[in-house]
Amino acid sequence: MLRESDVLSTLMRRKPGYSLAQDLYCDPGVFQTDMDRIWYKEWLFAIPSCEIPKKGNYVVHEVGAYSVVIVRGNDDQIRAFHNSCRHRGSVLCKTKKGTGPKLVCPYHQWTYELDGKLLWAREMGPDFDASKHGLKQVHCRNVSGMVYICLADEAPEIEEFVAQTARYLAPHDLENSKIAYESTIVENGNWKLVWENNRECYHCSGNHPSLCRTFPEDPRAIGNDDSGEMNALQQQHSQRCDAVGAPSAHLESALGDWRFVRTPLLDNAESYTMDGKAAVSKPNSSIPFKDAGSLLKYKYPGTWNHFLSDHIIVFRVTPISPTQTEVCTKWLVHKDAVEGQDYDIKRLTEVWIATNDEDREVVENNQRGIQSPAYEPGPYSPTHEGGNIQFTDWYANTMIRAITGGVKRIAAE
Ligand code: FES
Ligand SMILES: [Fe+2]
Repeated sequence: MLRESDVLSTLMRRKPGYSLAQDLYCDPGVFQTDMDRIWYKEWLFAIPSCEIPKKGNYVVHEVGAYSVVIVRGNDDQIRAFHNSCRHRGSVLCKTKKGTGPKLVCPYHQWTYELDGKLLWAREMGPDFDASKHGLKQVHCRNVSGMVYICLADEAPEIEEFVAQTARYLAPHDLENSKIAYESTIVENGNWKLVWENNRECYHCSGNHPSLCRTFPEDPRAIGNDDSGEMNALQQQHSQRCDAVGAPSAHLESALGDWRFVRTPLLDNAESYTMDGKAAVSKPNSSIPFKDAGSLLKYKYPGTWNHFLSDHIIVFRVTPISPTQTEVCTKWLVHKDAVEGQDYDIKRLTEVWIATNDEDREVVENNQRGIQSPAYEPGPYSPTHEGGNIQFTDWYANTMIRAITGGVKRIAAE
């Protein structure tokens, strides 16, 4: 098991443009360092805000050792709290989702307001100060309908991401959406392999027959080309979408932790369906044409998303162990769309359910092969795997900065 200093030297010895050293994908010490230095420090996508549309709705999200309650307050503000009672520490919310006018501990019924204040604690004596026993807050931001949390004491700067998200997501009505379907799978692979597989389409033609009906594998179309160049079709598409208030140009953050690009689908396809036609007749975007393609967004380390003209798919990545990662996928449609009338669940979800399963298999094969003593880092394709080069650079740089200088330096840069 590697210590943090060993993790640092492994990262410093890395050959850029090559897959990572075996330990970085398998070792329990690396996993713990990833959790401490990235997952417990960075902003993480938790839920779409439409998942808790009413006051008192809550969702519990677990990340490593932490359990977090995300709840909509009486003032409609969404807040996040550590799911641990301030009496003797019991979990407060036992179920993954629920609703209630207050948060009541199941152990001795200490009762908290939805804003975390302790309201009632039975017979605690005359000196007990309820105001000192409110729930511990977790940083929480509703970013244009996507709720992000940060477990660090001091959260990294996020304002530029918030502003750009507002701009790119403007035509997509997340607040007035609902979850039509959700699926949670566990991939037997390190979280970085899940991301690396997401960041390239070199594997698409050989593994994704359904997705390849509509999704372009051209790395210049999907922002995976290291050069950042767009093809002519992408440029034309970008101008057409920009003209109707749907920003489309490739935009990446200076630190490399987020990216937006709106790409056309193949042959003017409208959505990720088997026939390429829209999956939802009541769209949750205001884009006046159906072949708007897909706005591809990611925010490391926790989420990638596809915003289509008719629906939205949000993916959430959560590490479980060095070799296990949860991938939770939610399909969001307009809140007034009626199942069976405006959309059919199978038609809406079949392409990405199949694609997720195909991705699970290639990630698991990748993990198993890396665990062989014979594994050595191999070269990324400069044409197709620019996204992997970008991701591994981001990972290594973020870890090195965090280990050597702390997150404060990231925020200050
Ligand atoms: S542990 Fe919550 S009320 Fe006792
Ligand atoms: Fe894939």
